Amino acid sequence: MHTLQKMKQDGQRITVLTAYDATFARLLDQTGIEVLLVGDSLGMVVQGQPNTLPVTLEDVIYHCRAVARGASRAHLVGDMPFLSYQAGLDQAVLNCGRVLKEGGAEAVKLEGGARHADLVRRLTQIGIPVMGHVGLTPQSVHTMGGFKVQGRDEATAKAILDDAVALEQAGAYSIVLEGIPGELAQEITARLRIPTIGIGAGPCCDGQVLVIYDLLGMDDSFRPRFVKRYENLALRIRTAVESYAKDVRAGRFPGEEHTVHSREPVANGTADGTGGGGAPYGSVEMGTLGGFPSPPATEPAGQSPSGSHATNHAR
Ligand code: KIV
Repeated sequence: MHTLQKMKQDGQRITVLTAYDATFARLLDQTGIEVLLVGDSLGMVVQGQPNTLPVTLEDVIYHCRAVARGASRAHLVGDMPFLSYQAGLDQAVLNCGRVLKEGGAEAVKLEGGARHADLVRRLTQIGIPVMGHVGLTPQSVHTMGGFKVQGRDEATAKAILDDAVALEQAGAYSIVLEGIPGELAQEITARLRIPTIGIGAGPCCDGQVLVIYDLLGMDDSFRPRFVKRYENLALRIRTAVESYAKDVRAGRFPGEEHTVHSREPVANGTADGTGGGGAPYGSVEMGTLGGFPSPPATEPAGQSPSGSHATNHAR
C-alpha cells in the first residue's frame, strides 16, 4: 500500500494482474508485478459464468488462499463478490475480514463509490485496506444495461469523479477506474492523491490491471478494444494437447525415458522416489503430484515460491 502510494508520487507506473491459483500466482510474482487481484472475474474465466454475479464469498476466499500460497512478494487484493458487502455494514465488515483472515489477502476491493463511503471508513479504521472500483462496475451489469463504457456525458462523468473523491476521503488507498473515457480517467488521476489503476480507461492512470487470461489470449472469441494480447495461449494450448493426444494414440508417449523399471538402481533418493534429483519422481515432479514444487537452487533468498505469503511479504 505504502509502496503504491510512493510509486504514484515518484511517477512510477503500477502493474496489476488478476490471479486465481497458486501456479499463476507464483509465475506472476516472480516477474515483479506489484499487485495480484483475486478478481470476481473468476466467475467468468474460471467458472464459465456469463457475468460475475454468481461468485460467492467462499469462492473468493478459496481462490485467495491458493494465490496467497503461490505468491510471496506481491500485494494481494481480494475482490468482494456481489451481495457480500451491500446488505448491511456489520455483515460487510465481517465478510471483508474473512477475506483477510481466511483468504490471506492484504486488502479488499469493492465496486461502487459514495454509497460505500461509510463502509470504507469503517474498514479502514479497523485495519482492512480498501481498493475502490468506479466507472464500469460489472456487478451492476443489469443496471448499466450491459458491459458499457460509463461517464461519456458531463453528468455521469461528474458522478464518477465525485465517487472517486468520496472513496479517497473515506480512506481507500487506491481506486480501479474501469471502462471510462481516457480524459475522465486523466482528470480523476490528477485530482486524487491515491493511485488510480485503469482497465479500459486509457493511458493516464497511475497503474494498469488486466485479467491474466485476456493478456495471454486464452479465449479466441474475447477481443475487446481495451485488451492487448501478449500471447495466443488458446492456440498454443490446443496445439500442445493435440500433440500429446497424437503421441498417446500412436504409442509414442510414455517412452522409455518416462518409464521406471523394477530393478533399476535408485540414484540420490529413496526407493519410493521422493528423494533427490536423480530419483524417478524427483522433488520437482513430486510437487506436481502432491505438493508445491521446491524452488530452484538458484532462487534468490526471500523469493521462495513455496513460502507463506503472510510471512514472506516485503511490504
Ligand atoms: O474482477 C476483476 O478481475 C476486476 C478487475 C478486472 C479490475 O475487477
